Amino acid sequence: MRATAIAQPNIALIKYWGKRDVARNLPAVGSISITLSELFTEMQVHLDARLSADTLTVNGQADSAMLPRLGSCIDRVLGDGRPHAEIRSRSNFPIAAGLASSASAFAAITVAAAAAAGQSPSTAELASLAGRASGSAARSLYGGFVELANSEDDIVVRTIAAASEWPLNVVVAITEAGPKAVGSTVAMETSRKTSPFYSSWIEQQDQDLDAARQAIHDRDFSQLAAVAEHNCLKMHSVMWTSRPPVVYWNSATMRCLQAVRDMQADGLGVFFTMDAGPQVKAVCLPECTDAVRASLASVNGVTEVMVSALGDGARLVEPG
Ligand code: DP6
Repeated sequence: MRATAIAQPNIALIKYWGKRDVARNLPAVGSISITLSELFTEMQVHLDARLSADTLTVNGQADSAMLPRLGSCIDRVLGDGRPHAEIRSRSNFPIAAGLASSASAFAAITVAAAAAAGQSPSTAELASLAGRASGSAARSLYGGFVELANSEDDIVVRTIAAASEWPLNVVVAITEAGPKAVGSTVAMETSRKTSPFYSSWIEQQDQDLDAARQAIHDRDFSQLAAVAEHNCLKMHSVMWTSRPPVVYWNSATMRCLQAVRDMQADGLGVFFTMDAGPQVKAVCLPECTDAVRASLASVNGVTEVMVSALGDGARLVEPG
């Protein structure tokens, strides 16, 4: 009754922001992401009827913060009356700082919990279960370029191009390693209820998805750059115009954006995107990676720079 799974975070190029069904955590919009290879979360689930409660350790330390959400995620996979679980999590990047740590955590625990119980659901079923825990987690079940689309009462997730078909790199500039002030679940609801831009955000999403899908199909980096930056800034405009405002950026975030603009002016194939946190993710052509890394590392306020290629979906690393 034990299994270990690994999942990589994903970075949305066309963002998920807003829910159409809060109870079932169904997104209001489709999204397109890239799954990373170098960053990971590993989850070991040990189901044991003798345990009196679920327990969690994160990187070797007892930590109950994520336990309720992880426990509910296991409930959804295994149903009521399941044995309690000893959960061990390990990760090589900052947690809860807008680096999609919840995506890799929930993708990994969904796969590990099912395997620990001897179940073998399809990847589509696992994605749907992971998505109930955290919308972006559904995308980490798949590798490469991933599209999440809404169906009538669920989601449909698929790889639209494998990592090897268009090997881009991502340079992540960490500007603040601590946990974010407002989690995305709460912030999304604030945006839905209060931002005057929310309805146009929803209305315009399909055209951004179409443009990004086409750019990926054509391997057209400048088209992808244009629509991804536009979609990111539009999402942050919805956040900024929420009440209370949701502002994840800091001054180093802005300096990173300026550095990306300068590199673009010098002809480098790079664009930025940001999520619910102050970190800047610069997506770039492989031949530009060293220059992008050096440029972002020299930005005042950047504490760490990580580089990742595109990677695979969540998977088991050990038989149950
Ligand atoms: C800004 O998936 O963390 O990263 O479903 O409430 O858990 P919940 O939200 P979450 O939101 C991700 C928001 C985003 C954009 C994205 O990844 O598409």
